[in-house]
Amino acid sequence: MSYALPKDFLWGGATADFQYEGGFNEGGRGILSHDYETDGSLENPRHHTLKMPGGEIIRPKSSFFHADPVPKEAQPVFLDDSYYPSHQAVDFYHRYKEDIALMAGMGFNIFRFSICWSRIFPTGEENEPNEKGLKFYDAVIDEMAKYNMEPLITICHDEIPMELALKYDGWSSRYVIDCYLKYCKALFTRYGKKCRYWLTFNEINAIRGFGPCGTRESAGQDRYQAAHHMFIASAKAVQLGHEMMPNSMFGAMYAMSELYPETCKPEDMFHQLQERRENWYFIDTMARGYYHSYSKDLWKRHNVKEIQMEPNDTQTLKEGQLDFVSFSYYRSNTTKAGDPWFNVGGSANPYLEVTPWGWPVDPLGLRYCMNEIYDRIQKPLFIVENGLGAIDEVDENNFVEDDYRIDYLSDHFKVMADAINVDGVHCLGYTMWAPIDLVSLSTGEMKKRYGFVYVDMDDKGNGTLNRTPKKSYNWMKRVIETNGAVLDEL
Ligand code: BG6
Repeated sequence: MSYALPKDFLWGGATADFQYEGGFNEGGRGILSHDYETDGSLENPRHHTLKMPGGEIIRPKSSFFHADPVPKEAQPVFLDDSYYPSHQAVDFYHRYKEDIALMAGMGFNIFRFSICWSRIFPTGEENEPNEKGLKFYDAVIDEMAKYNMEPLITICHDEIPMELALKYDGWSSRYVIDCYLKYCKALFTRYGKKCRYWLTFNEINAIRGFGPCGTRESAGQDRYQAAHHMFIASAKAVQLGHEMMPNSMFGAMYAMSELYPETCKPEDMFHQLQERRENWYFIDTMARGYYHSYSKDLWKRHNVKEIQMEPNDTQTLKEGQLDFVSFSYYRSNTTKAGDPWFNVGGSANPYLEVTPWGWPVDPLGLRYCMNEIYDRIQKPLFIVENGLGAIDEVDENNFVEDDYRIDYLSDHFKVMADAINVDGVHCLGYTMWAPIDLVSLSTGEMKKRYGFVYVDMDDKGNGTLNRTPKKSYNWMKRVIETNGAVLDEL
C-alpha cells in the first residue's frame, strides 16, 4: 500500500501566539496569563513572579501539568532579574511575512495559529474589540492567502487575559463564558469569510493552573467546574459559528499521548482504562455532546462534590457538538495500578527510546491513537500537533543537519498514511509543531527546537532572530509535493 495521501489532504504547521508572536506591549495588546511566566528548563521548572500584599515575592512553579497553587491574594509582578519569553517570543509579530513565505516554500496549504485573546480584548471585558489587534491578524491571513494557504485558527491556546484570571479566577467563573463568546463573535465577524476551520480550545484535557487557564487550582472541584464552563463556552461558540459561517467546521484540541498498561495484569489493564477516561471525558462531552456514564465515577475519584449546571446546559452540549476531533500526538505513556490519576509520564517503556526531554518516541502509537479516537467518535480527525523537540547544532554555514527530525517525522507520516489508507480513518490534515523554531511551552527554553527553520536565538532571548532553513525543510517540501508518495522511497 502506498503512502500517498488523499488529494484534498491538508499539510501545514502549527504555532501558539505566546510562544511565537512576541510584541507583547504593541498594538494595544493587554497582558496575558503567560506574560508572567519566566524561562526554565527540565531540571528547573518555569515559575510565575508574584507579590504578596506585604511585599514578599513568591515564585510558584508553573510546570506543564502540575503547577503550584497560587495564593488568592498574590498579584503578578514583572521583576528586572527575570526573563519572560512571551514578551519577544521569536517575533512573528514583526516577521510574519518572512515566516509565511518560508512556510509557503514548503508547500503548506494550511497554517494553524492561535489568536491572542488579549490582543483583541485587552482585559477581556471591553465592549468593542481592539481594532489594531484585529488588523494584525487581517494582515497575517491576507499574507497567507497570497500563497493559497488557509488558516486553522485556535481561538484559545491555554491562555486568558490576565484581568479575567485575577478578577474572576478565570474559567472558575461562569461569567467568563460571556467574555469568550464576545471574543468569538468578534473573530467570526472579522475573519468568518476567510477561515473555515476553527478550534475552540487547545489541549482542553490538560487544563493547567493559574497561568494558562486562569484557575488557581488545577485539580478537584475547581478543575472540573472550570472544564464545564469551557465545555459550555465551546458548544455555544460552535452554534454561533455555524450560524454566522455556514461552511465552518469546528474542533477542539486534545493532548492525546497514547497510553499503555505497564503489564497485562488485569489490575494494570483496568487502571489504564480508567486513566484513559481522564482524556475521553473531554472528547466525549464535547464531540458526542453529553457527559458519559463514567463521569460520576471520575468526579468521585477527584473529590468533585457537584458540578454546578444551568437547566439549558444539557441541551447546549447536545447542540454544540464538534464537527471534527483534533489532537496533538508527541509520545506515548505507560501506567500501572496504583499510579496517581492524571500522571503524565508514568513508568518508563523499555521498548521505546526517549528524547533529551524524556519523551518516549512511539510512531505506531499514533496509528493506535487515530484508530482509537475514530472508532469511538466516528467524526473526522485532524492531527494538529506532532513533532520532535531536539537540540540542534548549527555548523559553520549556519546549517542544521537534522536527520533525527526527518526520521521522526517520516516514521510518523508512514503510520499516519497507514491509518488513513489501510485502516480507513478519515483524517482532514496534519499540521506539524512547530515549523519555525519557537519557545517551549513546558520549559520556556529555546533550545528545545521543533522547526524546519532555525531561529538564531538562545534561551534568554539573545541572537539575531534570523531564520535559516534546516535540512528537514527541503525534505518536507518533497513530502508535500508528492503528497506523501515519496515516503515509499525513504
Ligand atoms: C502542546 C502545546 O502541548 O505541546 C504546545 O499545545 C507545546 O503549546 C507543544 O509547545 C510542545 O510542548 P513543549 O513543551 O515541548 O513546547
